[in-house]
Amino acid sequence: MKILAIDTSCDETSVSVTSRDNIISNKISSQIEIHKKWGGVVPSIARRMHEENIDIVVKDALRGAKVSLSDIDVFAVTQGPGLSIALEVGIKKIKEFVEMYKKPVVAVNHMEGHIYSTLSHNKNGNPKVKYGFPLLALLVSGGHTELVLMKDHGVYEILGRTLDDAVGEAYDKVARMLEIGYPGGPILEQIAKDGDEDRFPLPIPMTKIRTTDMSYSGLKTAVLYLTQKIFTKDLKPKEKKQMICDIAASFQKSAIDQLLIKTKIVLEDLSKDYKIKDIILAGGVSANMALRKSFRKNFGKKYRIHFPTDKKLSGDNAGMIGVAAYHNILRNNFTNIKNLERDPNLSL
Ligand code: KG4
Ligand code: ZN
Repeated sequence: MKILAIDTSCDETSVSVTSRDNIISNKISSQIEIHKKWGGVVPSIARRMHEENIDIVVKDALRGAKVSLSDIDVFAVTQGPGLSIALEVGIKKIKEFVEMYKKPVVAVNHMEGHIYSTLSHNKNGNPKVKYGFPLLALLVSGGHTELVLMKDHGVYEILGRTLDDAVGEAYDKVARMLEIGYPGGPILEQIAKDGDEDRFPLPIPMTKIRTTDMSYSGLKTAVLYLTQKIFTKDLKPKEKKQMICDIAASFQKSAIDQLLIKTKIVLEDLSKDYKIKDIILAGGVSANMALRKSFRKNFGKKYRIHFPTDKKLSGDNAGMIGVAAYHNILRNNFTNIKNLERDPNLSL
């Protein structure tokens, strides 16, 4: 069974061809260079770029899998969460294909897709992994920070989430404050490598009381106040450069520590009722090596830690949507094309 999937949830136009858990081709047209000028994603530009690129990326994905549209058995598309007018482009295109080829369609939750990015395999590094239910997934992206209990395919319970900013969003905002470039997350991670994480200790939010709720807005504000205090006019460029690295390292430490502490609490609570063996780290921020390393260090002895080994699969891509669609198909969870509408706030 061949599935063609589209994801246009944010600033990447992506189309894939998948078969079961196997990603055969996964093409991504990134808009980063365009949004860079604005320091963030501009939804109207994102939509226009999706519209301009979608047909090219579809062709590319089909060519990569050596198939044509008539070979596709099921069409799949991201329904949400994401940018409303961007989601619309992928949905419109899939509706066109479904009507033309009279094939079934599956609407996929983008965050469910991120989970399957760790459970799918391809030729570029994602191996087949062993996993069992229930498992715990930490979803960390530009819009989400969630600890999710996955009891089975399609059965989710959110056990902790951010009350304000997402962790990826905080990385991006802090990077903007430090004027280190766009996209903020990966650049901040690089810069933090040259920094001293203990020079400017920052608070770890939401840790005074035992709660699974998270928060990143206070940490971001703490960085803002710190920069206002220490970036004085008489600062030498070399000193400032070092300070930026030190702040980046401190921010990253607090950001990751919060995720570790919350994951520990959730695992502790779950251990009363469940035997968890697997932890999934997924979403754009799961590309962060410091985060992966601390999860391995803290939980690696007791749990199998999964994250996308192929870097392309940590960010937004349609391959993960195709694999998530396959698991929906196994449960007969098809979507009536008449009801297929974007849902920018779709939850797991
Ligand atoms: O999943 P994703 O590609 O898009 C959304 O669904 O939001 O996640 C994008 C987020 C951005 O905030 C980006 O800065 C962050 O993931 N990100 C990172 C890294 N790579 C991407 N954050 C920290 N370290 C990274 N290496
Ligand atoms: Zn995403």
